Order: sequence, then C-alpha cells, then structure tokens
Amino acid sequence: MSKITVIGAGSVGATIANDLTIQGIASEIVLIDINVQKARGEALDIYQGAHFGTPTLVRPGDYSDAADSDVVIITSGLPRKPGQTRLELAQSNVNIIKEITPNIVKKAPNALYIIVSNPVDVLTYVFHKISGLPEHQIIGSGTILDTSRLQAQLAKLFHVSPKNVHAHVYGEHGDSSFVPWSLAHISNNHVDVYAEHSPDAGRINWTADEAAHDAVEEYVRTSGAQVIKDKGATFYAVAMAVCHICKCIFSGAGTALTVSTMMHGEYGIDDVCLSVLTIVDREGVRGKIINQLTDEEVKKLRNSADKLKAVIAQIQ
Ligand code: 2OP
Repeated sequence: MSKITVIGAGSVGATIANDLTIQGIASEIVLIDINVQKARGEALDIYQGAHFGTPTLVRPGDYSDAADSDVVIITSGLPRKPGQTRLELAQSNVNIIKEITPNIVKKAPNALYIIVSNPVDVLTYVFHKISGLPEHQIIGSGTILDTSRLQAQLAKLFHVSPKNVHAHVYGEHGDSSFVPWSLAHISNNHVDVYAEHSPDAGRINWTADEAAHDAVEEYVRTSGAQVIKDKGATFYAVAMAVCHICKCIFSGAGTALTVSTMMHGEYGIDDVCLSVLTIVDREGVRGKIINQLTDEEVKKLRNSADKLKAVIAQIQ
C-alpha cells in the first residue's frame, strides 16, 4: 500500500492524518512538525484508534522518516486570523516553505507533493521554483475546497446531491476566484434552466440572473472566513478535500479536479499557479482540461493570475 508524510501537525495536518487513517488511504503515515511533542501526541492519538478503521501505522518523525513516501502533504504555516486574507500570510509562509522544501525533497525526491498551506497558489509556485522537481509531481490544493463549497451550495438550492452538480471554481484560492457559469450544469442541464426541467421546479428558488450567480460566488469566497470567524479555523473540509486528492492519485484512473498547477500559456496565462480543471492520477498532474470559456471568464481568470503575480513579485 502507500506511505504518506504530512508536514505540519496543526489542526489541518492532524485532521488530514486522521481522515487518511479513517478512510484507510495509506498503510503508513508519518507526521512531521517543528513541535516534536505535538507531532508525537497527534500521531499517537490517531494510531491508538486506527484499528477501529483500517490498521495504519501512524508515527511521528523527521525528514529522514519521509524517505520513500508516495505522497508528501505540506500544511505548515501560520493559519489565517479572523479578518486576515490568505495573501496577507504570504511572506511568513513563504519563509516556512523555503525552509521545508530542500529538506523534504532531499529525502523524498520521487514523492507527489500536495501543497495546502496558504496562500496556496503562491506557495505552490514557490515550491515549483525551489524544489526543482518535475512539474507533474506538484499539486496545490487550490480551489478544490471552493469547488466543494460551490457544489454543496448549489446542491442545497436545487435539491440534488452535490454529485449531480457539475460546476467548479477557477483561479486563485481566494478573493479573485470565480465560477465560469457558462459551464455550470446540473444533471446535463445548464444551472439556469435546470429548475424548469426538473421534478423540483415548484420548490427551487433560483432566478437565472447575474445576481444569483454573484450571491453564490460570494458565499463560496467568504465561507472560509466565516468558518474562521465562527470557530477560529477551518480544517475538516480542507482535510477531506486533500484526502480526496490522495484517493484520486491512488485510484490511477485520472480524475478532473480544480487544483493549483503551473500555467504555461493556457488562456494566455503563464508563470503562475492557479486552479482550472486538471487531470490527477498516479503520476500526479497528467495535464489540464481546456474549456471553452467566454471572453468575460477568460478575463476573470487573467485577473486572478495578475493578482497572484502581484503578490509573487513582492516575495523575497
Ligand atoms: C479554507 O478556505 C483552509 O483556505 C482554506 O478553509
């Protein structure tokens, strides 16, 4: 089976390790943190319950213990404080990932890397530049969580399972993210015409206009901040999202996910990491799916790229 190393034993990293164990995704999980005692406590707490699920060897370690990992998940970094944007975290978390990268890549040069720390698009870009690894090995969690929030919200509005919602969030995992509504469908009907062709027409409250679209996008964009305001941090949803990326990697079939990868001219964008639909499989990033976006949607994607490039330009 598989070995996964999680760097960062804070609420996100520990929840990821716990979810990986409950779902039986890895046979061995190494938990690394600068706070050795925290990593030891989290690993022991998870390990002592593991056999109620799928017996998994969960242990604390240091970089040398990460050798031969199939996947390395990087969650280290300061979490957002209430009211703080992800981009405001940039320099402090870039400094942390600059410290981690050479140490972990030396021990696990063949692993697939999932960058989770925020601002995830900036940190994924920095990881590309510092690690020197082949690009297919590097996946930023990107807007996979935003897409999940979008699908959950549309599912509620249209009284269907999120699995029937084919709509995604593109761009930055942050304030400049957007939904390409021209591509948003529910069970093969465009979102804006679904209600009239569905058995729930009488109880679906959806006006097919820009205001409805904007309201859903605002809900998605502010969900993270709302959870942080209410409970101090987000970790359950992002942990489940990251576990889903791991499952897609190990499934080998190739799954389209909105994860953050390096752009090379797609939609006229290059030299920045952001999320569009990307095929993820056993080798990591297989490649991006190019959609027929409207001119307006391409403009929004380029705007997101510009916002991220402006932050990258200020990073030491
Ligand atoms: C969120 O949106 C952790 O940035 C992540 O919850």
